[in-house]
Amino acid sequence: MAKKRGMSRRDFFRLSMLGGSAVFAGGFAAASLGMLWPSLRGGFGAKINLGKADDLKAELASIPHGWKYYAEARTYLVLYKAVPGKEAFYKGVADGGLLAVYQKCAHLGCKVPQCESSGWFECPCHGSRYNKAGEYEFGPAPTGLQHFPIVIDGGNVVVDTADAKPGPPRGTDTINQNPEGAHCTG
Ligand code: FES
Repeated sequence: MAKKRGMSRRDFFRLSMLGGSAVFAGGFAAASLGMLWPSLRGGFGAKINLGKADDLKAELASIPHGWKYYAEARTYLVLYKAVPGKEAFYKGVADGGLLAVYQKCAHLGCKVPQCESSGWFECPCHGSRYNKAGEYEFGPAPTGLQHFPIVIDGGNVVVDTADAKPGPPRGTDTINQNPEGAHCTG
């Protein structure tokens, strides 16, 4: 007669451990997918297609100061033209006469808005100012604003928000833009 065998306490303990590990592994996989999801979706942290270069440039040319905010990319797209001799400064970053300026202040990370009167970026938190290329002009920020590389791909402007370049050092000035009116910050 076959011997009837119940589950020992040791077997039960082992099974419980295995079950717990499986639950943990499943949770970890779900969390990892969740972290990757924004990139898979093409949102901030991925390459973002802002639209046709010709259309965007025409639109920017019709806007005072030639800049526009794109919330999805947390970026200001700016019409960009370097002064003679400085054209190579943003090589591999600017493309097609466009520069993508990250919204994050180089001081403590506040979102830096456009100042429509001066035509600069001016941070309301502690008063740092940057010209419209995001280059340092004034205040406690240690550098200029970061930039995202732009590639013109099939006529489209693609901004790589996974690859923020370090802000240019203080003293960098490739556009010689004086303030065009009153400042927005004290
Ligand atoms: S966070 Fe912008 S000046 Fe301090």
